[in-house]
Amino acid sequence: MKRLTVPAILARKGKEPLVMLTAYTVRMAQLLDPHCDLLLVGDSLGQVIYGLPSTLPVTLDMMCAHGAAVVRGSYHSVVVIDMPFGSYEASPEQAFLSASRVMAETGAAAIKMEGGAAMAPTVAFLSARGIPVMGHIGLTPQAVNALGGYGARGRSAPEHAKIIADAKAIAEAGAFAIVAEGVIEPLARAIVAEVSCPVIGIGASADCDGQVLVTEDMLGLFERTARFVKKFDDMAGRISAAVETYATDVRSRSFPGPEQTYQPKN
Ligand code: KIV
Ligand code: NA
Repeated sequence: MKRLTVPAILARKGKEPLVMLTAYTVRMAQLLDPHCDLLLVGDSLGQVIYGLPSTLPVTLDMMCAHGAAVVRGSYHSVVVIDMPFGSYEASPEQAFLSASRVMAETGAAAIKMEGGAAMAPTVAFLSARGIPVMGHIGLTPQAVNALGGYGARGRSAPEHAKIIADAKAIAEAGAFAIVAEGVIEPLARAIVAEVSCPVIGIGASADCDGQVLVTEDMLGLFERTARFVKKFDDMAGRISAAVETYATDVRSRSFPGPEQTYQPKN
């Protein structure tokens, strides 16, 4: 199976929905890759992998290390790497230096950055220089301090209009896809209708051109989850049960058994 390309993702607008999940490690990438169109090395790894309180402390070094692991663990999906807070907002030049480092060190085909109309010149600058950009609008977690929380967006008319304008600005600047996070259904539908690139939703209704979730959330592995997460498994429960059995077996000396024990050759 040949790796999908950014133009192939763009061409999926209005066709079969795009499947995207987060991945931060090589083994998870291997398991997700055959089923996905895109793997996102999200800065959500701050909370999920490192126990940080938000995505704000995540560094470029962390994104490069995990991004390289996910590229090594995949051969089919387009790998997209999040630009961490502080690595791209100051200027198009700063964004280019950070994004080119991420692409060179990881081998990923694209980056993702949060922000609306204010980031459009940066999206255009990178797109014109060989760096495919995925946008991220609506609930943008790096702006949690400005937004005042992680609540759904687009409930007031001015906010609704601003988010549509953000989506259009990013799309017109050349984004090959846009993540729309935590927006009410009518707003999601309007964004999908207004932009010519695929809109990938998370907490943004079934009207989007694709869906993304944090893998640990949908597997039931991470404790804190938003209303928009559907748990497709209870991996935390299954891990606890397996480890409880291991602990019992060690304490009762029933593990290791004869099959796991070396004997002298005779
Ligand atoms: O960091 C992340 O995982 C994300 C997705 C939730 C879209 O940005
Ligand atoms: Na993110």
